Amino acid sequence: MLKVPLVVTGFGHVGRAFVSLLRDKGEELRRRYGLAPEVLAVARVEGCFHTGAPLDLRQLSRGGDDWTAGNPAWREGLRATDVIAGLGPGGTLVECTVSNLRTGEPGLSYISSALRSGWNAVAASKGALVVGLPGLRVLAAENGVLLRFSGATAAALPTLDVGLVSLAGTRIEGIQGVLNGTSNYILTRMGEGLAYAEALKEAQDKGIAEPDPSHDVGGWDTACKILLITNACLDAAYVLADVHVRGIDGLTGDFVRTARAEGRTVKLLATAAPGRKGERWSLDVRPSVLEPTHPLYHVDGTEKGISFYTDSMGTVTVTGGRSNPRGAAAALLKDLINIHRRERASA
Ligand code: HSE
Repeated sequence: MLKVPLVVTGFGHVGRAFVSLLRDKGEELRRRYGLAPEVLAVARVEGCFHTGAPLDLRQLSRGGDDWTAGNPAWREGLRATDVIAGLGPGGTLVECTVSNLRTGEPGLSYISSALRSGWNAVAASKGALVVGLPGLRVLAAENGVLLRFSGATAAALPTLDVGLVSLAGTRIEGIQGVLNGTSNYILTRMGEGLAYAEALKEAQDKGIAEPDPSHDVGGWDTACKILLITNACLDAAYVLADVHVRGIDGLTGDFVRTARAEGRTVKLLATAAPGRKGERWSLDVRPSVLEPTHPLYHVDGTEKGISFYTDSMGTVTVTGGRSNPRGAAAALLKDLINIHRRERASA
């Protein structure tokens, strides 16, 4: 049995769902993968839950927003980076904070400090990666550890696993995706007759919209995802300013319903395509009317989808992986399992 020390940064929808998933799947992780994850700290902005021993997951996943008060495991002012430095190398950071898209913080500091301390990192927050992916990859390589971020690249929908592993040896000649569950849900519900505001409210009630939903409907969440997927699959270093972004916030119900009545559908589509003479790729997010023959036509509701256009495997499309906190948590867990599976195989 391989003990896997974990520190979780961020304890919102996704952090909590991750702790619940670990609790639910603890037995299976031991039996199928020989892994025994131990959560040694959970960090929020003001401090950490940390006792020096593995935290009780049942107690952690029961907590409400104000449950730090009087909790014997709560250490006000304690920083996750200090906990990690004190534990020594060999653990994995599970990064779930809401990080700023301009500064990458606080996730950028958490991830870089963990990698420097000899910890692997699995990340769901996009800011740190959008701002600092190239540097973080160098840091990981220098420290002999791994950085994985399925949780930030459409989570339960496999995108990087397909682009990096399943399509190895192909030349990727284009990528298209419906990558934001909130926008896709809103468009689907508008097509069914709901007003934009009502559909947005429903998406928020499902816990899938970003804390500031303009990130979803304005196209920025999709832009981050296509940027990270493109950079990872092409080994490129495009930045967010390279992505042309238009969201769904200006669309009328009439426009969406008319497309539907004509047998077409409106999607917030992300496209990465090479320039004509092999120069820089263009990255683009915009509402698009899809014909029934488009591989992403049937991706509805909170589901997502991605198509890779390749030279030797044709078009490969994956759909499903609906957006919700448990799906995001499952993507973190998948990366965690795959990192340690590799370690066990090479041991
Ligand atoms: N808000 C995102 C979505 C989930 O609606 O898909 C996190 O990426």
